[in-house]
Amino acid sequence: MEVVITEHEADRVGPVADRIEALLAANPAAVLGFATGSSPLPLYTELIARHRAGRISFAQATAFTLDEYVGLPDEHPERYRHVIERELTSHIDIDPARVHGPDGNAADLPAACAAYEDAIAAAGGVDLQILGIGSDGHVAFNEPGSSFASRTRIKTLTAQTRLDNARFFDDDLDAVPHHCLTQGLGTIMAARHLVLFATGSGKAEAVAQLVEGPVSALWPATILQHHPHVTVLVDTAAASRLRLSDYYREVYANKPDWQRV
Ligand code: GLP
Repeated sequence: MEVVITEHEADRVGPVADRIEALLAANPAAVLGFATGSSPLPLYTELIARHRAGRISFAQATAFTLDEYVGLPDEHPERYRHVIERELTSHIDIDPARVHGPDGNAADLPAACAAYEDAIAAAGGVDLQILGIGSDGHVAFNEPGSSFASRTRIKTLTAQTRLDNARFFDDDLDAVPHHCLTQGLGTIMAARHLVLFATGSGKAEAVAQLVEGPVSALWPATILQHHPHVTVLVDTAAASRLRLSDYYREVYANKPDWQRV
């Protein structure tokens, strides 16, 4: 696991955008995993800018989102399929038919989850997966107690997550759904490169557990310690509870030029 600690947003976003640019240059049909939430937004702004500058084309790429609320009306702006379209995919040249998300309004939710797993497999798996982390250590919507082997399925959101996300629903907690469909931890772990962004002191405990804690279902993101290629990009506040932060800074400062994130 590589931990990049830097106060400047551009220093977190730039290396990841470089990596995505290189990935798409080498394989224009690469499969990207996009996360919703606020943490990846600066990256999306940079990807849009690079696309507009003619540096990156997503024309042949495929994308999968991580999760979706269950039961929001089709047109609801907080449905994640609308969120990712608004924040990213409508501003780049990706084919909308190749932007996939779990269908939280399917009549048969378990069948929709199985279909989503099949779609990811049929695309050849995810090359690079963007992630955020919840203050309780969830990734996607894999709440504490999630099985490390889990695949896409229905989950019940914790009170904390609903509280955290109420800001997207005009601070109306009652408007936040109780259920979601989410890629499982097993699904996420199958992606070839995981890139996680976290900022702010509210994420400090979750980041400390993710990087240095014992692997435990209590902090679902800790399973990432078992992944061979993870990049965690954090600001100083989110890094504030890391015990080995000096070492992570030293490693990154002395990184060989030929290595990318
Ligand atoms: C949400 C999403 C996650 C996201 C997390 C953190 O509930 N389902 O994918 O990573 O919470 O969100 P944010 O980046 O806004 O802090």
